[in-house]
Amino acid sequence: MNLTVVGTGYVGLVTGACFAEMGNTVTCVDVDAAKIAKLKEGIIPIYEPGLDALVTTNYREGRLRFSTSLEEAMDGSGVYFIAVGTPPGEDGSADLQYVLAVARQIVDEASCARVLASHDEGVSRASYAAFLREQEGLKARRPRCC
Ligand SMILES: NC(=O)c1ccc[n+]([C@@H]2O[C@H](COP(=O)([O-])OP(=O)(O)OC[C@H]3O[C@@H](n4cnc5c(N)ncnc54)[C@H](O)[C@@H]3O)[C@@H](O)[C@H]2O)c1
Repeated sequence: MNLTVVGTGYVGLVTGACFAEMGNTVTCVDVDAAKIAKLKEGIIPIYEPGLDALVTTNYREGRLRFSTSLEEAMDGSGVYFIAVGTPPGEDGSADLQYVLAVARQIVDEASCARVLASHDEGVSRASYAAFLREQEGLKARRPRCC
């Protein structure tokens, strides 16, 4: 299965590496070009026991890819995990604008999106329900493809 993980930080990189190790083809996307360049060189920006080996092996064997372009990663991907940051807003609650901006781009541009998932405990079911209602017209127009 082809998967895309958006946000290649603590959550996204570990998620991507583990899904690749399970045999999936995973593209990890990040807006931080320096981080993506380092990952392609095998330089892992975080420490998690065993992660280096998972990342380097799966990258070398082509199951794990890195990109700064979500658009490029969407080619052939049907499952998306959103793992971008949710900084605290003025009232201390999680600011969801970055998560929802990525979700909108996926809904708007992906030829095929089966699952939209987030690791963020701050993204409540109600937030996603509101988002999906907002996108209802668009979804209704798109033929099912995967
Ligand atoms: N780290 C944890 O233990 C943990 C646990 C539970 C939940 N979470 C949640 O998971 C989410 C990710 O956490 P993290 O610790 O991995 O954060 P992180 O800051 O380590 O990584 C986030 C990454 O997303 C990238 N990013 C930001 N906007 C982007 C965009 N539009 N497109 C692509 N990449 C983008 C950043 O450059 C960064 O590399 C957060 O919302 C956090 O609250 C984290």
